Amino acid sequence: MKRDLKPWDRSVQPPLLTPEYKSTLSRAPSNKLITLPHALEDDSGPAFGHGHVREGDNNLITNAAAPDEKALGHRILIHGVVMDEEGRGLPHTLVEIWQANAAGRYRHRNDSYAAPLDPNFAGGGRTLTDEKGHYRFLTIKPAPYPFPNGPNSWRPAHIHFSVFGNSFAQRLITQMYFEGDPLIRLCPVANTTSTPHALVAKLDMKTAKPFDYLAWRFDIVLRGRKQTPFENLLQGL
Ligand SMILES: [Fe+2]
Repeated sequence: MKRDLKPWDRSVQPPLLTPEYKSTLSRAPSNKLITLPHALEDDSGPAFGHGHVREGDNNLITNAAAPDEKALGHRILIHGVVMDEEGRGLPHTLVEIWQANAAGRYRHRNDSYAAPLDPNFAGGGRTLTDEKGHYRFLTIKPAPYPFPNGPNSWRPAHIHFSVFGNSFAQRLITQMYFEGDPLIRLCPVANTTSTPHALVAKLDMKTAKPFDYLAWRFDIVLRGRKQTPFENLLQGL
């Protein structure tokens, strides 16, 4: 059934062309964007198989580790609520994350950073939100890493998020940062949005587990005035 989704708030989303973030120079479209009318397909698909998410997929400390082994690094819990445009928690929503390891390196063939790989850490996880829209991941805090933007450009510690809402119109791909990181204000990627604070997780000592892990809270809003910004604005939306 077609719902009346709120339109995109472009002031929240980053511009496609941000010269300080060098790679946008080559990928930003040169033609004016076209906003398409809201169609039935925006609500009705695509779908994904909930059965593909297994218990333990949301524990990145163990989900790629050898038996009786664990990933190296500072143990953290990332959690929050995925909400719709009205602030209601979205149940059974697919949340996927990927990240660098505790040394700032991705397990990816294109990552040639000098930092070491961890054989017990793949850097990817997924989960479904519960009845109230809540999600949680146990993982390792990623380290900052350099990237070829300017002569001395570093990404703040961050975790990539992909959220698959109830429909294609609620899809979100973004990045989460950690409260208090001084690299955030220097990062041309984080600063493409006018509301980088919406991407900063807050330290959550109430949820931290003593002698085990610290916790960080990151709530996500899909569409509407308080929507969480994309890492780079979707074209044509
Ligand atoms: Fe990254």
